[in-house]
Amino acid sequence: MSSTLENLNWRYATKRYDATRKLPKETLDLLMEAMRLAPSSFGFQPYKFIHVTNPAIREQLKAVAWNQAQFTDASDLFVLCTIKKMDDAYVNRFAEETIKAQGTTAEAFEPYRQMLLGSIHSRSDEEQEHWNACQTYIALGIALATAAEHRIDATPMEGFDKDKFDEILGLTPLGLHARVSLALGYRSPEDKAQKYPKVRLSKEELFIER
Ligand SMILES: Cc1cc2nc3c(=O)[nH]c(=O)nc-3n(C[C@H](O)[C@H](O)[C@H](O)COP(=O)(O)O)c2cc1C
Repeated sequence: MSSTLENLNWRYATKRYDATRKLPKETLDLLMEAMRLAPSSFGFQPYKFIHVTNPAIREQLKAVAWNQAQFTDASDLFVLCTIKKMDDAYVNRFAEETIKAQGTTAEAFEPYRQMLLGSIHSRSDEEQEHWNACQTYIALGIALATAAEHRIDATPMEGFDKDKFDEILGLTPLGLHARVSLALGYRSPEDKAQKYPKVRLSKEELFIER
């Protein structure tokens, strides 16, 4: 088996963490960098990642997340949030950054900027929020795969009250909405879930040839 598949079989959605073990800073930095490098449609990155380091806030989040212990016991907790609405200013800033990074000119970039504006205008607010959320999950997937590669335990979590998370984390005034959480750390040897066999569709059922 390739090491990629070994790592993906090794990982599981960790239920119980060893609360005494902390990720080294370099490991945390690596995981955050992997999330930063995630691809997104047009490269818009319509999200923010809240690294929740305050233990009291983590307790508050757990209370509105079915008391899932990962919210307090994992070494690190991120709440991945979607930008609710990208407006013209957002696109213009993105255009400026791209022009700077890629050494092109505003003039040469203009038709593309118009296309980007057209793309965001063509979506209703609801459609855009959904589209932005889809991008957020790509970063989640990259983080999960990177964590597995480095044998760091992780849990993706949607089992929480998103509106309450918005309130606790003060997200609404920032134009953000909590979408999915990510716990990172080290599994407890007592976590029974690490022994559960994987439940997945067979290759034949999952893939369709045309
Ligand atoms: C978007 C998403 C949300 C999830 N929410 C939770 C959650 O709130 N709590 C939890 O313990 N596991 C959660 N899971 C973990 C899944 O239940 C788990 O990934 C799935 O059952 C497959 O098992 P495995 O990841 O251990 O291989 C979530 C997974 C994803 C991808």
